[in-house]
Amino acid sequence: MKRTSNILIVAALAGGAFLASCGNKGPHHRNPGKIYAPDMYESRAYEFYSARLASMKPVEGTVKRGAMLPYHLKAEDTAQANLGRNPLVLDKAGLDEGKRLYDIYCGVCHGQKLDGNGPLYKGGDGPYPAAPPAFLTGKVLGYTEGRIFHVITYGFNVMGSYASQLDIEQRWKVVGYIKNMQNGGKAPAAPAEAAPAADSATAAAPVVAAAK
Ligand code: HEC
Repeated sequence: MKRTSNILIVAALAGGAFLASCGNKGPHHRNPGKIYAPDMYESRAYEFYSARLASMKPVEGTVKRGAMLPYHLKAEDTAQANLGRNPLVLDKAGLDEGKRLYDIYCGVCHGQKLDGNGPLYKGGDGPYPAAPPAFLTGKVLGYTEGRIFHVITYGFNVMGSYASQLDIEQRWKVVGYIKNMQNGGKAPAAPAEAAPAADSATAAAPVVAAAK
């Protein structure tokens, strides 16, 4: 008997709780209740954009720290790209660094001897099927500094871009090293006559630099 009444009490309580939870309490039902110290739950809005703190364009003429002048070529403006002059005057240390970078990033295909026969190509036996041109003979011998810089930056046909591996200064060092080797590899590359400091959009011979 006692057991039956216990069961009845439990059932009544559960039923009551169930009914209470679905009861419609009118407008009060929508009240979410009180939050203790609401600032701890919801941070105050940070007016990122209206305070003009983020996503703003850099001031015109800004040069990224560590970068050179911006690259202002119009799309497919080959002539301008070819006119680019190496803005660096490389001493021995600069050329050595150019060689180091060349051996890592270019020599595997173009050959550490710049003969177009690096270990990846190996005269056609290597894993890389396309023949890379030599730099000390043939057409690349006549390429301007700007043109080689442009090839490193954007790639050429099957050769990909090396802009993400080599920053602008490193690219120019590689160019300086190649040009120096083409000139016999002795003296540091002749310093370019004062490169125009003006914005290359207006200058005749642009200082080709920052691309990415
Ligand atoms: C994975 C192999 C590979 C690597 C690494 C590579 N190249 Fe090339 N490169 C090629 C091939 C292949 C061509 C020929 C593309 C064609 O003519 O279709 C080429 C072409 C070129 C040309 C001639 C482009 C033209 O206008 O005819 C230059 C200059 C050049 N590479 C420079 C470089 C430099 C500098 C590096 C290092 C930063 C480099 N390459 C790294 C494979 C490579």
